[in-house]
This record gives sequence, structure tokens and C-alpha cells, in this order.
Amino acid sequence: MPALSRPILSVSNLIAGYGNTSVIKGIDFEVYEGEIVGLVGPNGAGKTTFLETIAGTVKPRAGKIFWRDKRIDALSVMARRKLGIMLVPQEAYMFPMMPVKANLEVSGVLNRDRDTRELMAYVHEIFPVLKAREKQIANTLSGGERKMLAVGMGIVSSAKLIMIDEPSIGLAPRLVTKLLENLKKIKEDTGRTLVLAEQNVKILNIADRIYGLEAGETRFCDRTQNLDESMVAELYMGK
Ligand SMILES: Nc1ncnc2c1ncn2[C@@H]1O[C@H](COP(=O)(O)OP(=O)(O)O)[C@@H](O)[C@H]1O
Ligand SMILES: [Mg+2]
Repeated sequence: MPALSRPILSVSNLIAGYGNTSVIKGIDFEVYEGEIVGLVGPNGAGKTTFLETIAGTVKPRAGKIFWRDKRIDALSVMARRKLGIMLVPQEAYMFPMMPVKANLEVSGVLNRDRDTRELMAYVHEIFPVLKAREKQIANTLSGGERKMLAVGMGIVSSAKLIMIDEPSIGLAPRLVTKLLENLKKIKEDTGRTLVLAEQNVKILNIADRIYGLEAGETRFCDRTQNLDESMVAELYMGK
């Protein structure tokens, strides 16, 4: 259970989109430290646009975004990244021509107060494949390995809020279960906060709370244990 104190991220009446079209139509959203929040909704609901607006790659048309007490909606992507807000996009990014190990080491540059080697050892414990493949060039990793590397980079860089856009997409069912379990373990071991945009119903197994998005609006928001799983799966999930 997360400590229900002040939210670390607080979004009010957010409106954002592309050109003249509003895709996000007035969303209120809160995230508390140390919780996993699932953002579910059908294709085109606005999940990606919403995460990108928080990360800073999409500029909001109206509304406010706070990181603790600091208003951040006019800050650059890098300024938000330095505060500890990180987005792992659907096509997980990295330094494609560098080996896996170097990708992790470079991420340590963003981390001023912790031992990069210690954090890398933790990442290797959670994702042993990143140790086994440390000399491999990053863009030759499989989709699942790439996602693990991106999450590992977030851990090494001490990102406080790691938002992952569709962590399960493209992964075999067994790997989905494993990755989601690992994300829960990361939350429990390190106290990192996670926001996961998902269409896979397995998100209900690890999220503390769920926001249901449809056509750019919040349809519901509740603790996962209060939700009717089959109803959520039918209305808001791809599978
Ligand atoms: N770069 C873009 N330019 C114009 N429209 C976009 C862009 N990205 C997404 N959209 C539109 O915004 C809507 C929401 O998309 P998206 O945020 O990707 O939803 P989701 O991630 O829930 O599938 C869709 O109608 C999509 O076509
Ligand atoms: Mg999306």
C-alpha cells in the first residue's frame, strides 16, 4: 500500500493535443510516492499523449502539472528529467550503437548522489539478461530486452517516477508476466514510483490504482482491489 500523503505528481484539468485537435480533454491525475498506477484504455484513448505531456514532449494547451510543490508544465524535457521524471516510450530509446553496459553507465551521469556500480548490480540482479549481454550492441537486443534496458537505465539514473508506455506490447505472455512481476519488485525494493500505460489485463495484478481513459477523458479511477476485473478488461483493454 502506498503512503497516502501528498502526491508527488499532480495534474489538474489538463488539455493537450496536436494542431487544433484536443486529444486530452481535461484530465485530473495524481500519483503518490511508491505506488504503481495503471493507465488503461483502448487504442487512441490518449494514453501516450498524456504521458508525453507529463514528460514534456507534448505541450499542454491548458491545465497544470505539479511535481510535489513545483509547477513543471512549462519546463523542458531535460529539466523534468533532472527532477526525476522519466518516460520509457513505446519504442524504448537508448544509445543504439553502444553496448548494453555503456548504456547503463551513461545513465549514471544523471545520478549525482548514488553509486552507479551498486545500482547496476541491482539492475543485473533483476534483469540477469542485461549482465549476460553487457557487451552486445543495444540495437541488436530483442524488444523485451530493450524494455528491460530502458527500465534499468531509469534505475541507474535514479529516476523517481518511471512512466512506461505499454511495457507488455510485443512480448510473449510468459514474458509479460515476468516483466510486470519485476516492475513490482523494483517498486518494493527501491521505492520507485511507476505509471504504466497498458492494454494488457495483467496490469491489474500489480497496480495499486487504475485510471481508465477513454476519448481523452477519465472514465474511472479507483484502487485496483475495488475494480471488477472482467468489466475493466472488456471495456478498457485490448485483451
Ligand atoms: N503526433 C500526432 N499527431 C496528430 N495526432 C496524433 C499524434 N499522436 C497521436 N495522435 C492522435 O491522438 C489520439 C490519441 O492517441 P494516443 O495518445 O497515441 O492514444 P493511446 O496511446 O491511448 O493509443 C489518436 O486519435 C491519435 O490518432
Ligand atoms: Mg499509446
